Amino acid sequence: MGAEFEHIAKAAEALTAGELVAFPTETVYGIGCNARMDKAVAKVFAVKGRPSFNPLIVHVPDMENAQGLSVFNPIALQMARAFWPGPLTLVLPRARSGGISLLATAGLDTIALRVPAHPLARALLCAANVPVAAPSANRSGRISPTAAAHVREELGDGVLLLDGGTCAVGLESTVIGFINGEPLLLRPGAVTKEVIEAELRMPVHRAEGGNAIVSPGMLTSHYAPSLPIRLNALEAEENEAFLAFGGSAKASGKRMLNLSPSGDVNEAAANLFGYLRSLDSLQFSGIAVMPIPHAGLGAAINDRLKRAAADRV
Ligand code: TXA
Ligand code: MG
Repeated sequence: MGAEFEHIAKAAEALTAGELVAFPTETVYGIGCNARMDKAVAKVFAVKGRPSFNPLIVHVPDMENAQGLSVFNPIALQMARAFWPGPLTLVLPRARSGGISLLATAGLDTIALRVPAHPLARALLCAANVPVAAPSANRSGRISPTAAAHVREELGDGVLLLDGGTCAVGLESTVIGFINGEPLLLRPGAVTKEVIEAELRMPVHRAEGGNAIVSPGMLTSHYAPSLPIRLNALEAEENEAFLAFGGSAKASGKRMLNLSPSGDVNEAAANLFGYLRSLDSLQFSGIAVMPIPHAGLGAAINDRLKRAAADRV
C-alpha cells in the first residue's frame, strides 16, 4: 500500500478534473467522482449501470467540510464527533451553498455524508480538495468489492484504481437519517445500533422498508450474487456451495468456505463479500448459508444476506 501513496497526487488531479477514481475505504471500495460536476457523477451512474434515483454518499476529509455541505442537528453533531472518521454515513438537510451536483443527491433535499478512516481515502480526499461522491465500486445490484481485484472484476481495467489491500470492515457504512431531529437507522453497518444508542443514550429506530424508498440501499434485492442463496442452512445440498460460520460446520465434500471458524462476527463481516464472490460460480446450483448470530455486526451481515437472497426483480 505504501507505493499507492505516490499515486495520490495523480489520482486527486484526475478526480478534480472530472475523471473517476476507485479507492479503498475501511468498509468497501468506492468508485469516486468530483461531487460538484454533473458530468463526472453521470459517469459513475453509467459505469455502475445504476438507476438514477439512487443518491450517492459524498465523502469529505473532515467535519468542517461536512458542515459546509449540510445542516447539522445536535444529535448528528454528537454522532460525527463520536464516530468520524469511520464507517458511519449521516443523511442531513443539504446546504444549497454546497454546490453539490443534483444528480449526486438524486434531486433530494438531503445529502448523505461520510468521513472515511482509511489512510488512502483520507489522503485522496485531502489532496483532491473537492467533495467526492462515491458509491461502492460494483455494478448496480451486485456484491460490493472488498479487494482491488474485485473492483477490476466489476468495472474492468479502464478505471484508475488505488490498491489498499483488503477492506478491514468488509460491509458498507451504517447509514443514519433523521426525522424531527431523531436518528433513524437506514442501513445497519459496523457502527451498530447498540453502540450508537450507548453513545447517545437514546433509542435508535429502524427504518421499515415499506412502500416508499426511504433509502434506496433498502431495495429488497441488492448485493446479489448470480446464484440463488439459501439462508439458515445447516448443510449444503448435492450441488450447492456452502458458506459456513462457526465451529459446528459440517463439510460434506462440497466446496465450503467458513466465514469465521471461531464464530467471530467481525471476522465474518470482513470475509462475507469476498467469499460470496468466490462461491458464485456456475459449477454450483446455489449457495447455502449457515445461520449467523444477530449480535453486533451480525445484524448488518443478516441484512445483506437477506437482500442477497431476495427474489430478483
Ligand atoms: O461504506 C460505504 O458507505 C461505501 C463506501 C464507498 O463509502 N459506499 C456505499 O455507497 O455503500 P452506496 O452508494 O453503495 O450506498 C449509499 C447508500 C444507499 O443505501 C443510498 O440509498 C443511501 O446511502 N443514501 C444516499 N443518499 C441518501 C439520501 N439523501 N437519503 C437517504 N439515503 C441516502
Ligand atoms: Mg452499493
